[in-house]
Amino acid sequence: MQNDFRVIVFISGRGSNLQSLTRCAKHFNITHVLSNKPEAKGLEFATEHGITPLSRARKDFPSVLQQKEWLYEQAVKLNPDLIVLAGYMQILEPGFVEIFSGKIVNIHPSLLPQFPGLDTHARALASGVKKHGCTVHYVDHEVDTGPIIAQSQCDVLPDDTEATLTEKVLGMEHRLLPWVVNNIATGDILFNEQNEVVYSEQLRTSAKENLFQLGRKI
Ligand code: GRF
Repeated sequence: MQNDFRVIVFISGRGSNLQSLTRCAKHFNITHVLSNKPEAKGLEFATEHGITPLSRARKDFPSVLQQKEWLYEQAVKLNPDLIVLAGYMQILEPGFVEIFSGKIVNIHPSLLPQFPGLDTHARALASGVKKHGCTVHYVDHEVDTGPIIAQSQCDVLPDDTEATLTEKVLGMEHRLLPWVVNNIATGDILFNEQNEVVYSEQLRTSAKENLFQLGRKI
């Protein structure tokens, strides 16, 4: 069944979150996958699943910025209802974020605002935190700072390693991201004019049942 709510996904690599989004898409339709890396594995998955891949190599452009601008042009032309950053490893220019204000979400492998940026699992272990997890948030002008939509958390156990934490958290990402995107598509999660995330009552119940935390700041 085709859904009216059109989503495009930005990736840079493997695309396991793209796969879980595709598998769990109940209320939205992923029309295109855009990437700064033509060799990204996720683009092959997109092609195999009837999703249009869009990517051009860095070497085709005089600068990284021009390559990014090409991607931005594609997104603007597509005019999606939502852009999902699922392992997209570049920082978006403020002008682009402005165009899609309240319409870009990102999945990040930590309980933001803890551990923004890279190497989140190693940093969580090194810091000795007892809880770790993942966050889906709206994207603003800075890196990993936008309003938090929802989080999923796990215990950090004494014998956890970077590998075990990566595996645990990735599994949680695969449940959290599609849940958020389905609920944005149905209007159960909204971004209001005051840049706040607003949730329906039904969503609150569903979050509790799934053990997700809403808008949580730790
Ligand atoms: C995920 O851990 C995501 O949170 C992070 O990059 C990783 C991408 O994995 N931003 P995949 O490409 O979705 O498999």
